[in-house]
Amino acid sequence: MIPYPAIGTPAAELDTPALCLDLAKFQANVATAAALCQRHGVAWRPHAKCHKSPDIGRRLIEAGAIGLTCAKLGEAEVFAAAGISDLLIANLLVGERKVERLVAVRRIADPIICIDHLEQVEPISRAMHAAGLRVRAIIEVDIGLDRVGTAPGEATLALAQAIDQLPGIELVGIMGYEGHLLLVEDQAQKRTQIAAALALLAENAEMLKRHGLACPIVSCGGTGSLPFAVAQPGITEVQAGGLIFMDAFYRQKCQIESFEFALTLQVTVVSRPVPQRAVFDAGRKSIHGEFCTPLVVNRAGVTVGRLSAEHGQLEIAADAPPVAIGERLHLVPGYADLTTVLHNQFYVLEDGKLHDIWPLVARGRLE
Ligand SMILES: Cc1ncc(COP(=O)(O)O)c(C=O)c1O
Repeated sequence: MIPYPAIGTPAAELDTPALCLDLAKFQANVATAAALCQRHGVAWRPHAKCHKSPDIGRRLIEAGAIGLTCAKLGEAEVFAAAGISDLLIANLLVGERKVERLVAVRRIADPIICIDHLEQVEPISRAMHAAGLRVRAIIEVDIGLDRVGTAPGEATLALAQAIDQLPGIELVGIMGYEGHLLLVEDQAQKRTQIAAALALLAENAEMLKRHGLACPIVSCGGTGSLPFAVAQPGITEVQAGGLIFMDAFYRQKCQIESFEFALTLQVTVVSRPVPQRAVFDAGRKSIHGEFCTPLVVNRAGVTVGRLSAEHGQLEIAADAPPVAIGERLHLVPGYADLTTVLHNQFYVLEDGKLHDIWPLVARGRLE
């Protein structure tokens, strides 16, 4: 096994490609998000699908997050084992093995499962009841994403009423994700459309309450919609998580300005076949570039071109200073969510030196 670099190693001496997290910028992003949520009176349950790291999860909770959102049961297992209890698994759990594993998670943590059909929840109810346990559940409502979720209105009410009768299950609310509206270009229109989608979610929560059902949680919100989601009446918590790192997609496509680029991939120029084209030592197996092109942040006049599996091309403007073999570049991922999972660890940098190493423990826990 290749040893990790020693703490204190200058950042410029880390071997590349290296996924680096600027501690000060990360902390600033976390503080900005926590303060924004607090100002609007909504709780923050940041999605952990991008960081997959108990080191980061613990820091988010210390900074005021009420818990974490997970995309997979495998992630929830990792965070529960690390002592984080309040975990929303924002996905549908189906199959005997999943149910057994959920019962095991429930023994050490207080997860919330997500449901959009009675068939998902009945086996969970039987298993929880048999184990003498109760698990919290929320209903995912389709507020326009057309992915999963009950239809708003009667179908949601019918499912909530059915769940409410099940042993081993405690209905605690609803969620929806406005992910189909992240890219609306005109900001006034984006605000209006997100407000309409989330108003539908809030109306469904009110409907459940009018029918005597408990609905303390109304959960939604991602980084690309955060400024609008936090301001929506009736929302109790937001799931935005990617903002802790920020990336080119959120900044350029979703027009989110309030967070700093904390995550970079440091790469080395390994070839310069012609003056206007150089090649660095990372491609699609190290950085995601499909939703949005990675940004070169420490060098003007240089942009990322084609990515192959293990080579990345740089396009060099005619008036830019020449790029040298051996030069080190800092790239902001096009999409952090699909970049972090290509790496085993974050190299955490402070004052230009390696401050800590945080493994992505839940990476690959896709089952
Ligand atoms: C259910 C759910 N909530 C929230 C988000 C937003 O996450 P992020 O803030 O990392 O973009 C997503 C993104 O895919 C999601 O699927």
